[in-house]
Amino acid sequence: MSGIRFDGRVAIITGAGAGMGRCHALELAARGAMIVINDLGSALDGSGNAKSAADSVVEEIVGAGGKAVANYDSVSTPEGGENIIKTALDAFGRVDIVVNNAGIVRDHSILKMTEGEWDSVVDVHLKGTYCVTKAALPVMREQNYGRILFTSSGVGLYGNFGQANYASAKMGMVGLMNVLKQETSKFNIKINTIAPNAATRMTSNLFPQEVADLLRPEYVTSLVVFLVSENNNDNGMIFNCFGGWYSRTVVLCSQGVLLGDGKRDISAEEISDNWNKITATENLRPLGSIAESFGYIAPLLKNA
Ligand code: NAI
Repeated sequence: MSGIRFDGRVAIITGAGAGMGRCHALELAARGAMIVINDLGSALDGSGNAKSAADSVVEEIVGAGGKAVANYDSVSTPEGGENIIKTALDAFGRVDIVVNNAGIVRDHSILKMTEGEWDSVVDVHLKGTYCVTKAALPVMREQNYGRILFTSSGVGLYGNFGQANYASAKMGMVGLMNVLKQETSKFNIKINTIAPNAATRMTSNLFPQEVADLLRPEYVTSLVVFLVSENNNDNGMIFNCFGGWYSRTVVLCSQGVLLGDGKRDISAEEISDNWNKITATENLRPLGSIAESFGYIAPLLKNA
């Protein structure tokens, strides 16, 4: 296959025993990458474990002439994260790519949600992404190369009834990315986030068959392959993808209004009087860091 290749590159894909992760793994392997198939082999709600999930995808890859090894750790502990990286180093000697993809759901509206449902979902998605990424970063820094992907969700970016735990974890990843893009860019590491939709067991009860047929995981995989390749030089971006639709989501700050002079009081009534200016979505701008937001009080800083 010509075009985007991964010969000599080592990719870790978490939750690769099924669904989108499996699809990413097969495609990266077909393009020459050596793969760690991490999967706990859990049910959709995180219960249970089965080595067969990871093993079956390893067999598929090896059967097609590719290189892959299995890892059965949960992503959600530091020990699990370290061992996933160790599996890659022991088998292939490097870590170039980490696709954080493992996930579970335990849906309930907030009034019915238990602490256990909250904790387990945040553990797998947010803490799991942290644990695996944290363990990979020293290796990538040493190599001066890395491509990391976070798998977020429109549920976090835009909201969805009954998924407070999942949405919080998925949006937490965006905060993690915003910081890591600043801390790691000098090591030639690019971290991006996708918000996909695909027909997998996770969505098997959500979509009518005619819609599910449009949501092929392969559409998501093509974006993933590009983002974790050497061809991608963008960092810290969020992409939507499903059904062949690819787009970017950006957090934007409006011009707003600068009240007062930094010395006089600003009353709640003054806020009320200026509410239209505060909430107007005009002159929207992306901010590269929190430091940039201080530009909005530049006139005050000049006189400080
Ligand atoms: P899936 O349920 O088909 O696959 C998830 C895999 O993660 C399973 O094989 C499971 O055993 C594994 N896993 C669960 N907990 C784990 C843990 N602690 N450690 C290691 N592996 C673990 O799900 P799907 O749909 O392929 O989802 C992949 C990712 O995409 C998830 O993060 C999900 O939240 C996200 N996503 C999926 C959407 C969809 O439409 N399917 C929509 C938005 C986001």
